[in-house]
Order: sequence, then structure tokens, then C-alpha cells
Amino acid sequence: MPNLLSRRLAQVALAVALPLAATATLAADMPRLAQRDGRHALIVDGAPFTILGAQVHNSSNYPEALKKVWPAIAYIHANTVEVPVAWEQIEPVEGRFDFSFVDTLVKQARENKVRVVLLWFGTWKNTSPQYTPAWVKFDNRRFPRMVEPDGKNSYCLSPLGEETLKADRRAFTALMAHLKKIDENERTVLMVQVENEVGTFGLVRDFGKTAQAAFEADVPAAVLARKKAPVPGAAKGNWRAVYGDYADEYFHAWAKARYIGEIAKAGRAVYDLPMYVNNALRDPLEQPPKPWNKNFASGGPTYDVIDIYKAAAPAIDIVGPDIYNPESAKLNANLAKFKRPDNALFVPEIGNAELYARYLYQILGSGSIGVSPFGIDYFDYANYPLGAKTNDKATLEPFAKIFAAFRPMQRQWAQWAFEGHTHGVSEPDDHADQFVTMKGWKAHVTFGQWQFGEREWPGNQKEAPAHAAKLVGGVSIAQIGDDEFLLVGQQARVRIDDVEGSGRTLIEYAEEGHFDTSGKWVMERRWNGDQVDWGLNFVANPRVLKVKMGRYK
Ligand code: DGJ
Repeated sequence: MPNLLSRRLAQVALAVALPLAATATLAADMPRLAQRDGRHALIVDGAPFTILGAQVHNSSNYPEALKKVWPAIAYIHANTVEVPVAWEQIEPVEGRFDFSFVDTLVKQARENKVRVVLLWFGTWKNTSPQYTPAWVKFDNRRFPRMVEPDGKNSYCLSPLGEETLKADRRAFTALMAHLKKIDENERTVLMVQVENEVGTFGLVRDFGKTAQAAFEADVPAAVLARKKAPVPGAAKGNWRAVYGDYADEYFHAWAKARYIGEIAKAGRAVYDLPMYVNNALRDPLEQPPKPWNKNFASGGPTYDVIDIYKAAAPAIDIVGPDIYNPESAKLNANLAKFKRPDNALFVPEIGNAELYARYLYQILGSGSIGVSPFGIDYFDYANYPLGAKTNDKATLEPFAKIFAAFRPMQRQWAQWAFEGHTHGVSEPDDHADQFVTMKGWKAHVTFGQWQFGEREWPGNQKEAPAHAAKLVGGVSIAQIGDDEFLLVGQQARVRIDDVEGSGRTLIEYAEEGHFDTSGKWVMERRWNGDQVDWGLNFVANPRVLKVKMGRYK
């Protein structure tokens, strides 16, 4: 955490001497996203920051509930907590706002030395209006639902309901104005998620009168400029003419994105925090993606419509994948699809079952600005089969030990990531070897081995170590100098060689250690002899290693 007192004193001094410069300092210190050469950083208090996040359960957004949140957040070593703020909670009566929970949350987050990402559960939470106030939920005339082709009302509120948009926007703007009031100086809140996993199940788009007219109108120029038709259609014209069989779902994505974008724009006009949306993923391995067939929430920010969201909701910085697919091939595909020069990789949710923990190494090594396991509090609720079967310390432990290794160096890690120096691998479902290519060097990562000797040795063939049957290995590597690396990993063996594979290289040193609070590397011991002869063997408890390599002739 920054030293608040000294920052305040500096601001006061500046304010006395140079009022304009002081204002500029404050604005420059707002959390913001930075982009350089297609890579991204979340800038917090003036420097890159890695979100080691933890998202609470859906109903933990009440002062009393927070008592079960903080001990879990501390145990998992998160530096950021993601917490919902529900529309029904802040505006139970139209026009009368109650921000007492937000006040409690921000105050207690500061006491617990963590930052906050707020999740706005407004018009849509997992597509449904469940978190809207009763005066919205049951007033279909003023707040219209989507209409099915046969004229029946859908469960889902229409993104073309202008009164709904007005009401949600007013509530969200009031929330952002309140945040500005209570948090502008300390900036505990880093980002805001606008709505939650939007889209519609079972219905491709709104077929109501207003929607139908918009569907028959020309595709907006901003969308045309960014989103090409998968099967070439007309260069311009209405949605069907341009996008053919994809027209309905693209139209719905545009309608949702426009609605969310309007809300985000209004919120940022009063308090300019980074904003993002999260996505319930469609299958990333279905290539090319076929037209919607009831197989995902239509209109949600799936990877294939990111361009529509960028065009229709420029106030949204990031579209983030919620990872609940445990297959490693899908993880690879999803990371590749959501990491783009125009879209920072940020994983707002990942399942809290043990097999997801290894993916943290890959995600944090892939230039992500952060990652957040879901369901982190001590309520007796478990979202199996998406996440773990139980919810206790043992459930959190696989995540806690990884965050514990990263937390002391999260600032350095974010900087290295921003500079493009980080890499990450996780044990794939088939346990296959992984390879990392770096500048001048490469790493070969293997899994499921004993620490001593080669896999092929008869002695090592007799019995496999217990972890060989599990999916637990992972390594993140930052190349911090021409020949120097920072490695953090578990249940994996790493061998580093030059890119030519000359075999004429040696470890100059391999130091196990950690970064202290001032950012200085503290060496605890050198690995040598058995500890390096058979590669760098990471065990169940993550270790941080600083390694320098050399070449000989
Ligand atoms: C994804 C949603 O975004 C979360 O709020 C939660 O409902 C999980 N799915 C399931 O536990």
C-alpha cells in the first residue's frame, strides 16, 4: 500500500504552491490502463499493478456478510477483492439512494490493506434482472422485456428499453459520484465491472417492435468499420444483408454493448475509473464459430463479438473471460482470443477447484493485468461443478500459496509484463512437456517427475510420484536481463538452454529468495549440486528463483 500520509503531505504542499499542478497530480494518480506496443498495464498510484484478486460469492455484498469475507481474503493473500454492488441494494425506492454498504466495504478494505473492484449488478446479472429493484423487476410496461418471435415476453430485460437504460444509468452514475466523494483521494477502488455476464439464454435477440425496426435499419458505421462478416455479405445495409446467418446475434451484441457503453460513459464522466465487462464463454474450439444455436448466451461479449463491443461501447476498456472450462486446450484458446492489442487480458473469474490453480502461472505469465478466483469467502456455499465441492481453507490453499509467492513482487511482475518479459505455462491435461522461447534462451518444462535423475532411469520408472497423476504443475518466468530470469513455480522441472540448444551453457547462479517491501531482492540460499543437476525442480510449495545463465566455448 502507498504511504498515504507522505502522499497527502506532498499533495498539500503542491496545492499550496501550485494549485493547478496539484490537481494534475491527483488526476494522474487515478487508476488507469496503459497500452504500449500492444501490451497492457493497470497503473495504480503511478505504477503497474498486478491484480491478485478474489471474488466473493454473489450474496456477500452486505456489511454483516463481510465478516466472512476478510479472513478468506487474508488467507488467500489477495491484494484486491471483487465485490458486487446491487441495484436493488442502493436504490430500493426509486430516486432514494443508500450507499451504506459501499462505505463499509471501502473502509474495511482499507483496514484489510486490499484494493477493490466493484461489480455493478444492474439490469443484467448472468442475463437475468434478478438484482434490479422490485420497482423495475415487475414493471414490464416501463421496463420492457425482450419479446420472442411469437410475441411472448422473455425473462430478460430488453437492451432497447430506453426507460430501463435511463434508470440504470442514473443509479450507476449516482454510485460513481458517491465513489468519487469517498475514494477520490485514497483510490481504494481500482476498476468497475459494468453488469455481469450479460446476454440472453434461449433467445437470439429481441423481436419486439422497437428492436425489429433497429434490426431492419442500417448497421451503424462504427460497427461496420470493425466487424467483418465471417461469410462475406453486403458491404453495408441492414443487419441481415451484411451479416447473414450471424445477423441476429451480432445485432443483440450491439444492442447490449450500446446499452452498457452508455452506462459506462455516464459513470466515467463523473468519476473516471477503468471499466470492463465479463463473459460467460462460448466454446473457443468450435472453429469457425457457427451461428448461435442456443449454445451460449446470445449478445454477451463472447470472443467473436469483441469488435462489436469495442465499436458500440468505447467506454468499456476490457472484455474479460470468466474461466470455468477446466480443459487446458480451451484455456489456451480463450487466453489467445481475449489477449489482444486492443483488449488487455484480465481474468475476472476463474473456478476455485484445485485444477484451476495451476492456470494462474500461465495467466500471470501471459501479460495479464490480473486474475481472480471466484467464491472466496467462508460462507457454506460451493458452486461445484463449476468450482470446488467444498469451501474452506483447504479449498483456498492451492490459490493462497501461489498468491503468497507473487504478492511481494506483484509490482515488479506487472512492470515486467508491461515490458513483454513474462511467460507462463501450466501442466496440460495430457501432462505434455511445455516449451518457452525467450530472447536468446529457451526453457523446457516437464511435469510429474521425481526431483532427482531422469524420467527414463529404471529406478525412476518403478514408481511415479503422487503428483504425476494430478494436474498441478505450473511455472511463470520473467526474463529480467539478457541472461537473467525470475522463476516462480510448483510441481515442475525447468531446464534453461540457449535458443540454439548448444548444450554449452551453465547456471551462473540460482538463488532462492524473495523481494522485500522496498522491492529489493533478498537471497535466502543458492541452489547447486543435486538441486540443479537435474534441472530446477519446483515442488508443491511454490518457490521464487533468480537464475543467471552463462555460455562457455
Ligand atoms: C459466473 C458469474 O459471473 C458469477 O457471478 C457466478 O454466478 C458464477 N458464474 C457461478 O458461481
